[in-house]
Amino acid sequence: MEKPHSQPLFLLLLVSLFFLPAAMGSRLFTPCNQTQYYPVYVETVEIYPHPINRSGNGEIWVTGYTGVIPDEATVVVNVSAPRSIRPYVSIKTFPICDTMACPVRPGPFDYRGLKFSMNIRNAFIPKELNSVINTVTLSIKVEQEPIMCVVFSLFVLGRRPQLT
Ligand SMILES: *[C@@H]1O[C@H](CO)[C@@H](O)[C@H](O)[C@H]1NC(C)=O
Ligand SMILES: *[C@@H]1O[C@H](CO)[C@@H](O)[C@H](O)[C@H]1NC(C)=O
Ligand SMILES: *[C@@H]1O[C@H](CO)[C@@H](O)[C@H](O)[C@H]1NC(C)=O
Repeated sequence: MEKPHSQPLFLLLLVSLFFLPAAMGSRLFTPCNQTQYYPVYVETVEIYPHPINRSGNGEIWVTGYTGVIPDEATVVVNVSAPRSIRPYVSIKTFPICDTMACPVRPGPFDYRGLKFSMNIRNAFIPKELNSVINTVTLSIKVEQEPIMCVVFSLFVLGRRPQLT
């Protein structure tokens, strides 16, 4: 039997190559733990604007598929620059309902679950944008347990603000 997935995947690859310039804000991401199962499936991670503004106001957009996400879940953004001259770890927590429509409602149905999109506004604070290369660990947690977790790099270009 022919594998039903191979051709669409190939087409998708072609399409993404053609549209690469439009997808500049897209981030390559990996699951936090390759062997752990996360019930929330992440399809795309994007940051806006790209490159982000050092004064902040950057946003993270995530799309994917999921089952029901409890309203008390929290979104945790961990920005770190471990290899910076001044290493830091900065953790911010947002209520899930600040990042997506609550309760998480059915979108177009797919075998992967319900399509969702998440938008984290003011995802970064100026302190976190001092380093050129940052590691962002983005997770959704239900009582300390991650139901989604991805890691991606964040590059910050442009002039650094005056240090005070
Ligand atoms: C990754 O997930 C596996 C399976 O859940 C677990 O056994 C392992 O301890 C995890 N690794 C880390 C570094 O958390
Ligand atoms: C960066 O943010 C500052 C303060 O919010 C704003 O004045 C400036 O126009 C922004 N720059 C860009 C390129 O968006
Ligand atoms: C934040 O991310 C850094 C780098 O990945 C990691 O070392 C640290 O343990 C994380 N902190 C929390 C509270 O998740």
